[in-house]
Amino acid sequence: MTDPRLDGTAIAASVIDLIGNTPLVKLHRLTELEGIPSVLAMKMETTNPGGSSKDRPALEMILAAEREGLLRPGGTIVEPTSGNTGVGLAIVAAQRGYKCVFVMTDKVAPEKISLLKAYGAEVVVCPVAVEPDDPESYYSVAERLTDELGAFRPNQYANPNNPRAHELTTGPELWRQTAGRITHFVAGAGTCGTITGTARYLKAQNPNIRIIAADPEGSVFSGGSGRPYLVEGVGEDFFPAAWDTSLYDEIIPISDQESFLTARRVSEAEGILIGGSGGMAVAAAIQVAKRAGPDDIVVVLNPDSGRGYLSRVFDDEWMANFGFVQECENCVGAVLETRGAMAELLYVNPGQPVREAVALMKANGISQLPVCKNTPPFANAEVSGAIDELDVMEAIAVDPAVMDLPVDKVMGPRLPTIGVGQKIERAMKMLEAAPALLVLSGGRPLAVITRTDILSYFQAAAGSVVLDALTTEAGRG
Ligand SMILES: Cc1ncc(COP(=O)(O)O)c(C=O)c1O
Repeated sequence: MTDPRLDGTAIAASVIDLIGNTPLVKLHRLTELEGIPSVLAMKMETTNPGGSSKDRPALEMILAAEREGLLRPGGTIVEPTSGNTGVGLAIVAAQRGYKCVFVMTDKVAPEKISLLKAYGAEVVVCPVAVEPDDPESYYSVAERLTDELGAFRPNQYANPNNPRAHELTTGPELWRQTAGRITHFVAGAGTCGTITGTARYLKAQNPNIRIIAADPEGSVFSGGSGRPYLVEGVGEDFFPAAWDTSLYDEIIPISDQESFLTARRVSEAEGILIGGSGGMAVAAAIQVAKRAGPDDIVVVLNPDSGRGYLSRVFDDEWMANFGFVQECENCVGAVLETRGAMAELLYVNPGQPVREAVALMKANGISQLPVCKNTPPFANAEVSGAIDELDVMEAIAVDPAVMDLPVDKVMGPRLPTIGVGQKIERAMKMLEAAPALLVLSGGRPLAVITRTDILSYFQAAAGSVVLDALTTEAGRG
């Protein structure tokens, strides 16, 4: 509804009118620090009312549903989401008089639930530990609720109005804001709405504009198996409807470590607080911008703010626990160096027979083995549990046929984890309650350590103190 009293003022008619038209800013400090020859600019999606790029598809999907008669006055929107799309949908729903029900798993951080409730949405929490076809799974519950409530389900992964939103808004904004001089566009891909929609518009203006997708290492878009990685909101284990390689010139895989460290760096150096997926996109954009020429304009899209990730990317302890940062000089990594076994970690697959696990433990004189999926290569391993010599021995004593069972039938819980850069004292404390620890580096499993390894480290350290003393004496003599 237009209000003629606003004519001539800069007052927006509603919060919906503030979606889009986000600013573009040169990453001035990063350009200096990295010696970037081209112009590197960031599209700041944080200035959308919901604080993310997802406001755009949320609005477009609701407007299209109204046009198509899928959403009637007072209707309900049901979507399985815990993130930015939920916020966008809740904002538009509030303005247009719809109810929102968001379905999510009990793995979701409590503040995400509170955030959506704060917008007046109803949140249904389902157990994460069930199969997708279980009636309790969040997919099944979302489907049932959609039917029961006669609700509209936007389904951003399949909805063509998701990429269309970016084709209608993000693309034209970038073209206008760079006076048609944009040469490269870099963005992370999740549903692929952003990259595909924006690319469609930009390529139609100038087919030479290069479109670059940044992807978490491990995701299917850059050739991975789909997991595991820790960056949120980007990468997938399947190809969504908007995935369109004919539009992408390059897909750059970026590790969790580089994504998180870049997020921290951009936040500190530029004063622009960004999250892990923004860090991932910037890391890819730095590569692109370094290769580009002085007349090129490289635009990277930052999808949301680092505020949503304070307890992860910006938490020193969380980062150290996954082995993303060093807490000290002589830390867990030094124990591994002493052992001289930074080499490969031994593991078994969940489907391997128990006898193979036993043989591996015997051959290497070890008592615990992590159980990992998605191997090889080990870089893509997902740890699902652990085999303990004692437990296996007891099970075999009761029933020798256990030897031929798959490992996942007898495995115990995962070993407690510690970062490669965390303090040795912490490892000692943890080893009071566990037989072994899984050491993580860059978020990935690196090695298993036990009390014996720590003892050997102290023994070697004591030995080198004696050696130091002897050589100093000899020097004096
Ligand atoms: C938090 C978050 N969600 C989603 C996306 C992906 O956008 P889309 O779903 O449009 O591919 C990004 C992109 O970087 C993101 O950071």
